[in-house]
Formats: sequence, C-alpha cells, structure tokens
Amino acid sequence: MKIAIAGTGYVGLVTGVCLSEIGHDVTCMDTNQQRMDTLQKGIPPIYEPGLEELLRKNMAQGRLYFTVDPKQAYSNADMIMIAVGTPENEDGSADLTYVEQAAETIARHIQKDVVVVTKSTVPVGTNEKIKQMIERIKPANVHVEVASNPEFLREGSAIYDTFHGDRIVIGTENDKAAEVLEELYRPLGIPIVKTDIRSAEMIKYASNAFLATKISFINEIANICEKVGANIDDVAYGIGLDERIGLRFLQAGIGYGGSCFPKDTKALVQLAGNVQHQFELLEAVIKVNNYQQSLLVQKAKKFFGSLYGKRAALLGLSFKPNTDDVREAASLVIARQLLQEGASVIAYDPIAVPNARRLLGSMIDYTEQIETALVRADMAFIATEWDMIKTLPLQQYCDLMNNPVIFDGRNCYSLNEVQSYPITYISIGRKEIIQKESVDLNC
Ligand code: UDX
Repeated sequence: MKIAIAGTGYVGLVTGVCLSEIGHDVTCMDTNQQRMDTLQKGIPPIYEPGLEELLRKNMAQGRLYFTVDPKQAYSNADMIMIAVGTPENEDGSADLTYVEQAAETIARHIQKDVVVVTKSTVPVGTNEKIKQMIERIKPANVHVEVASNPEFLREGSAIYDTFHGDRIVIGTENDKAAEVLEELYRPLGIPIVKTDIRSAEMIKYASNAFLATKISFINEIANICEKVGANIDDVAYGIGLDERIGLRFLQAGIGYGGSCFPKDTKALVQLAGNVQHQFELLEAVIKVNNYQQSLLVQKAKKFFGSLYGKRAALLGLSFKPNTDDVREAASLVIARQLLQEGASVIAYDPIAVPNARRLLGSMIDYTEQIETALVRADMAFIATEWDMIKTLPLQQYCDLMNNPVIFDGRNCYSLNEVQSYPITYISIGRKEIIQKESVDLNC
C-alpha cells in the first residue's frame, strides 16, 4: 500500500518506520525542513530504542521517504495518516491547529480516492470535522473516507508496541475504510477492535485516563501506607495478583509525566465539561499527580528543616527510562522547587540532558556521569528509574556524598539492602530509614 504520513513526531515517525518495515511504501511529510534534512540522513530526531536501525534499513531498501512537499507525499497515496501534535490549550483542551492545517493541506493535494486516518489524539467529534473540511476543499472527482485509528505506543518501547500491541482500534463509518485498515494491519496479527469513529476517539482518552487513574490510586495508597506503617510494594503486589486488577501500572512514585497522560487527562476533563459533565474522578487523579510530583522536596524539607545552601544531586531527568523526553517530567518540578528553596542542583541523565537544558537553562548544572552528580552532594533525589540509577551500588553514595541522604521517587532499592549501609533513605509508601548517626559519620 502507498501510505503518506503527516507529521514526523513521535507517533508519525514510529508508525512510518514500522509500516515500511512490514513492506508498505511510506512517505513521511513534515513542514519542518531541518527535521526532514536530519531524517533524510537517516538520523532520528528523537531517541527511541531500535528506531535508527529500522529507519536506515527501510530507507536503504527504498520503502521509506521524507519530504516537505505535500504534493509528493499526498497526490498518489492510498492512505494518509494524520499524526501531528495536539498540544494543550491554556484551558487544558486540545489545540487542533496542526490537525486542521494537515487536513487542509491534504485536501488541497489529493488527486485520487484515499482513506484519511487520524492517529493524533483528538477530542470526540474531530474526525467528523476533518471530513467536512476535506470535503469542502478537495477536488470533486476524488472520494475521501475518514477513519480514527488511535495509537497506544509507549515511549521507550514504541517499536516493540507497534509489532506486539494488545489491540488495534479502527473507528469508521464505512466498511470499505475499515477493510483497508484491517488489510494494512493484518500482518501484525494483533486483535482488531472495529467500532464507530466517536467510540474510537473515546477509547484513546479513556485508556490513558484509566491508566493515569491507576497510577494516582496507587500513589494515594502509598501515601496512606507511609502513615500506617505498611509497605506499598507488598500492597501493590498483593492487590495486583488479582487478575481483575492486574500488576501493571501499580508502581507508586512521584507521579506520571510525559507527552500523553498529563495532556490527555486534562483534555478529557474539558471534553466532559463541554457536555455539562463534571469528571470529578479524573479531576482528583490530576490533583493527586500534581501533589505527587512535589512530594520528594516536601519530604526533604521535613527531614532537613531548610534546604538553603545544600547541594542536591538530581538523578534522572526524562519522564521515564529509555527516552530523552522530559515533557511534564517530575524532575523539572523537583529542580525548580529545589532552586526556590535555595539549594544548588546538579542533574544526571544518560541522554535527556540536552532536552532538559532547553527548559531549565543554566539554573542548574548537568552531567552525563552519575558519579559526578553525587560528589559532595548533601542529598540525592531519584526521579527516573534508569537501569544505571537502579543498579548503582549503594556503596557509591557512601563513597561520593557528604553524608548520604537519598530521596527515592521510584523505589529503586529494597529496604533490606539499604539497611546494611549508613544511608538515610526516604522513598514512597515505605518506612523511612533514618541514620541519625549518619550526619556525623564519614561512611
Ligand atoms: C502512555 C501510554 O502508556 C500509551 O499507551 C499512550 O499511547 C501514550 O501514553 P508513555 O507516556 O510513553 O505512554 O509512558 P508510560 O509508560 O505509560 O508512563 C507514563 C508515566 O507514568 C511515566 O511518567 C511513568 O513513570 C509513570 N508510571 C507508569 C508510574 O508512575 N507508575 C506506573 O506503574 C506506570
């Protein structure tokens, strides 16, 4: 099939690369010339495990192209996928400017019958608007079908998820469009959910809202565990073994970040509000998450009294491991709060430093060596559970820090392990290990 993809952000690029890998002829179109120049050289503008290899392979085999020319991308396509960003408006609703621009450009350049598929996360009803817009502008002899096909890729495992997803959702008002999409995805062998367009649009928001709810729920249970002396790791395992609940997305910590959950939860609250429904449960999920992101610094203030003049090592900047994405990351909240409290911050991340620097500038110091961050630090904040953070021997904290005090926002170490070191260790939903002597000890 000849496929064009509008937008080479996370979703567009990964989708384009994976569809070319299963044999389709894919042209990715983006208005950002610099991005396309980089891609044409076979260099992905984002970090995603396995992406560069597949990108280069499929470009070399002549199945994957990048262009800024909409005519070249759209005029001959059998299917066009819209995968542009839907950022957040000030009121939390989804900004559809890029989606509308893409639809208009598509309408102006198509020359044959085509199925236009929306992969961008868009409020319910948007695909109908896209269809109306295209109908108004397109050549009269060209027939256009519209379909909603939301994606459920996780950053850091997006390639794996594309080939091994739990389901593919296809929303159409027309059997023909559904058949074309089914044919496209058949080689993947993933279960397909066929539904109407509005339900498909809703499935995407409801999925992300449900997962965010699971996280805020377990974080609230963790906060209660701390007060009643229970251990959240055991509690999560104990409830998660019930298959109706499931073990996944029960990792307590400093909340969810990234490009989807924060944005999509707010957009769904807005969407509900537009039809006079106050989504109180989801509002609470968002509130809990905001609280959770600021929890580590609150814990540090409680422990030290004042953080003024202290040196903080911030371990992990990306919103989760295996990505260089720092959007809505808890690390940003922690860094800003520490600065406000008068502490100095040196942040470590294996790959997200350039992205963090764009947002935090020179307010903090950065390093790509974990040891450099810890040298002479008074306190360490673990914000992301990168492997190199999780597996850092505890002895290193003792060797490098002044008197090791760790605030672990991702529960990377077991309490038993920590107990054998002269380390003060304060994590989420578990007992605090306080070494009163550690203040005077040189461990
Ligand atoms: C998410 C959805 O999982 C994906 O289906 C959708 O397409 C896009 O949004 P992503 O944002 O890449 O994917 O990351 P995900 O792995 O879901 O994690 C999101 C955030 O939740 C991270 O900050 C992570 O640290 C946090 N999280 C996740 C927890 O705090 N606890 C958990 O148990 C799981």
